[in-house]
Amino acid sequence: MDKIRIVGGNKLHGTLPISGAKNAALPLMIASLLTEETLTLENVPRLRDVAQLMQILSNHGVDYSVDGKRAGQNLLAGQTLHLSASGIVDTTAPYDLVSKMRASFWVIGPLLARMGQARVSLPGGCAIGTRPVDFFIDGLKALGANIDIDRGYIVADTNGGLKGGRVVFPKVSVGATHTIMMAATLAKGETVIENAAREPEVTDLANCLVGMGAKIEGIGTDTLHIQGVEGLHAYRHPVVADRIETGTYAMAVAMTGGEVVLEGARADLLQSAFEVLSRTGTEITEVENGIKIFRNGNGIEPVDIVTDPFPGFPTDLQAQFMALMTRAKGTSKITETIFENRFMHVQELARLGARISLDGQVATVHGVDHLIGAPVMATDLRASVSLVIAGLVAEGETEVSRVYHLDRGFERLEDKLSACGAVIERISA
Ligand code: EPZ
Repeated sequence: MDKIRIVGGNKLHGTLPISGAKNAALPLMIASLLTEETLTLENVPRLRDVAQLMQILSNHGVDYSVDGKRAGQNLLAGQTLHLSASGIVDTTAPYDLVSKMRASFWVIGPLLARMGQARVSLPGGCAIGTRPVDFFIDGLKALGANIDIDRGYIVADTNGGLKGGRVVFPKVSVGATHTIMMAATLAKGETVIENAAREPEVTDLANCLVGMGAKIEGIGTDTLHIQGVEGLHAYRHPVVADRIETGTYAMAVAMTGGEVVLEGARADLLQSAFEVLSRTGTEITEVENGIKIFRNGNGIEPVDIVTDPFPGFPTDLQAQFMALMTRAKGTSKITETIFENRFMHVQELARLGARISLDGQVATVHGVDHLIGAPVMATDLRASVSLVIAGLVAEGETEVSRVYHLDRGFERLEDKLSACGAVIERISA
């Protein structure tokens, strides 16, 4: 298996292009199941999760093609994907595919809405927490679906199609909002979703669905009103910039010092994280082609954070921020409220010399003067990249194994960072 080798110590300087958001691309691809016509997505990142989802969708009968390189385009430009679900031949999403990627469970919404039936494997637990699917089941039932659980599968059907209903989520869920919103676009009558997720990826999906002919009001708020329509149609939609990739590289620059323009990044998607980052002593400026991140040599101020649904501090940046705090000039507290087990990076950061103590959902990070390189590994995507950020300042060599986690969500990470002056390379096994 590939590893990433980093020699710490270099500041970052230059321009780093931000890709389309993985967590928007995945539901957008799934939305192609809602129409017989072709959905074209621009700015799709080249990631393992995207390739995996293409395989899952093609199992349902979706044809897809990817545009070849265009004149003047470099290797870091996003890809254009055409998805056509003109004939859905299979409404089962099998365990061996769904278990590899939780987001593939979301096909249950479009399959039920368009075909009136779906048999989708339960996704199971995962490294960051139990992640149940009760909100999906209750939401689809509120839209009139009959749901049974049979040998690890959710088996759902409708009597003559889904019907609009009122869905009140007990807790904000990105995936359940995506799924019920997609299902409701083709249900008869009006659906109201209360306590809906407001993450920019939900807004991106909603805007795309509207472009495809859906009737959705309240986009960007926690209450969505969806008026079902007879059918959706072809549309072309660019995937929103990846705010988590943006925040990750901003924290990398805050960690190493230097000045980097994150090209194509959008500051409005990251207000709370940038507010925190500026309190650490990092300068963030909107520029014509993106966002400029700058930190001088004055050291990193400690800041306490609590993760929260959007517009709060994102759980997907918690590990990266913890890496930054390991080198702060004091003590910080990091509280994780979204997932119960999202602190696996703590013991790996400790291997690099970090001083972190854990008490339930709260990590207390005592900043240290030096980190020292070591072999490390992580069990999820954002935890892995937090080790990369730490490795960029650790003395000597850090080797991050299980790179396949990084490949799920960060496009050409080592190329982007080395172009800005980091000593980082992939070692192929
Ligand atoms: C999405 O996961 C993201 N994944 C996650 O990013 C992200 O961490 C998470 O939202 C929170 O922002 C994608 O977009 C592909 P949730 P999702 O449903 O939708 C509980 C990454 O690193 N819950 O918003 O699966 C759940 O257990 C990934 O890119 C229920 O209790 O997360 C959690 O505590 C990791 N019952 C909370 O809600 C349910 O039926 C929020 O989870 C559904 C969720």
